[in-house]
Amino acid sequence: YGTIGLIGAMQEEIELLLGQLQNAETERHAGITYYKGTLHGRKTVLCKSGVGKVNAAVCTQALIDRFGADAVIFTGVAGAVDPKLNIGDIVISTSSVQHDMDVTPLGFTRGVIPYQEVSDFPADERLISLAQEAGEIALPGRCHTGKVLSGDQFVADREFVKKLREELDGACTEMEGAAVAQVCFMNDVPHVIIRSMSDKADGSAHVNFAEFTVEAANRSFSIVNEMVRKL
Ligand code: ADE
Repeated sequence: YGTIGLIGAMQEEIELLLGQLQNAETERHAGITYYKGTLHGRKTVLCKSGVGKVNAAVCTQALIDRFGADAVIFTGVAGAVDPKLNIGDIVISTSSVQHDMDVTPLGFTRGVIPYQEVSDFPADERLISLAQEAGEIALPGRCHTGKVLSGDQFVADREFVKKLREELDGACTEMEGAAVAQVCFMNDVPHVIIRSMSDKADGSAHVNFAEFTVEAANRSFSIVNEMVRKL
């Protein structure tokens, strides 16, 4: 890859990467700051997208068009949907879906974007493998692969989590991944989403999120850092 694009939504999610980035130069575009530099000798552009799918989409398109990213890795935290996941565990995306895309009154399945072939955007096989290898080194036994569900909602409801699991077979839920995935898909750029669980998207989610976000974000960082080292 010529240039690696790294995205986090919040400051906690990019903090450690920013500390590792060498010779960083900053450039602002459409309200987002991009940090151009090198990470383990690799040309890298790091940015904080902001929260939600629109921010993530704008950020990803700019990463590709203006900053030449030819691989995109998202790092951050998520709420666990798969009951076997614990706080601190990692999900490496196999694909991602927008769970709040709901045209069910017209007969479309939840998550399906009408009149388009793909709504469940696959992550890149090579980046998935690389993330798994990095996970074996950085956090052995704590890394899983699965489907990432994204929506402009902080999920904090057990019943809703159950529905997400049953209807969409999600591993975790967050607010950006599928937007990044869709933009990458539309531009034919490989991507993968790495998420560490800060909570279980249930009634305790807001408390757990406040307590565990920094630690979870740092665990996600450790995978991405190891991945870039291996690229
Ligand atoms: N990010 C971390 N936890 C989340 C949750 N429960 N819902 C949406 N995004 C999240």
